[in-house]
Amino acid sequence: MKKKAKPVEASKTIMTELVMPNDTNPLGHLMGGNLMRWMDIAASICAARHCESTVVTASVDLVSFDYPIKLGEVVTLVATVTRAFNTSVEINVQVYASKFEGGDMFKRNSAFFTFVALDAKHRKRKVPPVHPITDEEIRLYEGALRRRQIRLISAGKMDPKDATEVKEFINKT
Ligand SMILES: CC(C)(COP(=O)(O)OP(=O)(O)OC[C@H]1O[C@@H](n2cnc3c(N)ncnc32)[C@H](O)[C@@H]1OP(=O)(O)O)[C@@H](O)C(=O)NCCC(=O)NCCS
Repeated sequence: MKKKAKPVEASKTIMTELVMPNDTNPLGHLMGGNLMRWMDIAASICAARHCESTVVTASVDLVSFDYPIKLGEVVTLVATVTRAFNTSVEINVQVYASKFEGGDMFKRNSAFFTFVALDAKHRKRKVPPVHPITDEEIRLYEGALRRRQIRLISAGKMDPKDATEVKEFINKT
C-alpha cells in the first residue's frame, strides 16, 4: 500500500547540548567526533520519526566544520528530513552555537545523513514520501536526488552513466 506523504515539520528534531571540558580538544574547541555523534543522534531521531520505524545510518556526507565551537557554548542541532526514496531517507542537520547566557545563535556546521528503515525483523522497509512546503524545504527536496546519485556513485553502487540528475546539474552550470 502507498504510504501518505508527511510534512517535514512532523519529524523535525531539535537537540540542545552544552560543551563540557570532556567534549573538547586541547584548544578548548568541541571535538569533531563528539559533534558527529550528536549530529547522528539528532538525525536518527528525525529519520525514525519520519519512517515510524527503526533506522540505521547508511552514510554521512557533505560534512562541513566551518567554525570552531568553544567550551561552555550551547549547541543546537536541527535535523529535518529532505526527501524519502524507497527504503531510505536523507536527513539534513544544521548546527548552531550560542553563548551559555543566550543571545544570537550562529551557524557552525552541517551535514547530510542517509538512513535505511528496518522492520521488526531488521529487513529493509518502504518509507513514507516527504511533502515539502516552504521554499527551503522545496530547495532541499529538489537537490536530494542529485546528492543521492553522487553518494551512490562514490559508494560504487551506481553507474555514473545512470546519474541523470548530476549530468543535468553539470550541464546547467
Ligand atoms: C545500510 C544498509 C542497510 C544497506 O543495505 P544494503 O542491502 O547494502 O542496501 P541496498 O543496496 O539494498 O540499498 C538499500 C537502500 O540503502 C541505500 N544505500 C545503500 N548504500 C548507501 C550509501 N552508501 N549511501 C547512501 N545510501 C545508501 C540505497 O540507495 C537504498 O535506498 P532506497 O531503497 O531508498 O533506494 C546495510 O549496508 C547496513 O546494514 N549497514 C550497516 C548500518 C549500520 O550499522 N549503521 C550504523 C553506523 S556504523
